[in-house]
Amino acid sequence: MAKPSKYPSGCPLGIRVAAVAAIRHAHRECVTVSVDKVDFREPIHVGELVTAMARVNFAGRTSMEVGVKVLAENVLTGDKRHTNSCYVTYVALDANGRPTAVEPIVPETPDEKRRYDRAAKRRANRVMERRYDQGRGE
Ligand SMILES: CC(C)(COP(=O)(O)OP(=O)(O)OC[C@H]1O[C@@H](n2cnc3c(N)ncnc32)[C@H](O)[C@@H]1OP(=O)(O)O)[C@@H](O)C(=O)NCCC(=O)NCCS
Repeated sequence: MAKPSKYPSGCPLGIRVAAVAAIRHAHRECVTVSVDKVDFREPIHVGELVTAMARVNFAGRTSMEVGVKVLAENVLTGDKRHTNSCYVTYVALDANGRPTAVEPIVPETPDEKRRYDRAAKRRANRVMERRYDQGRGE
């Protein structure tokens, strides 16, 4: 994908790809409720091929945390760089636009278990922060 400016962000692409991962998991319409831990590690240069990968790390009752990784490739040299990462939380909606339950994630490989455990900790922090934001903290 050719990029229009000198230091474009891979984030909008990443968020679109993350939405596809959430919708595929939920088989429902999904909305973004939060984007966190956005790391811009390196710039993406004009003419580089940008690839975004996403996976559902964790599912709560109706929400899912999707991890996104963006790579930029110099197609002349084949050199690939990991340029951005972020975590996006989606909620699956029913036909009335209300949150609806999704299938749980059952991690199997050590890599999936590591991602799941870390995502569960991030989710616990988000839930706590949301409670404080809503004045429902301890
Ligand atoms: C999605 C929406 C319908 C959820 O409504 P709600 O009243 O917050 O619903 P709930 O409190 O039952 O929360 C539903 C789930 O979302 C999670 N959630 C809600 N807000 C969250 C946030 N800011 N960060 C992370 N998770 C969040 C809750 O933890 C819950 O997860 P669980 O079911 O897995 O336990 C509502 O927040 C909404 O419409 N938001 C706007 C979404 C939008 O316009 N997105 C476009 C952005 S460009």
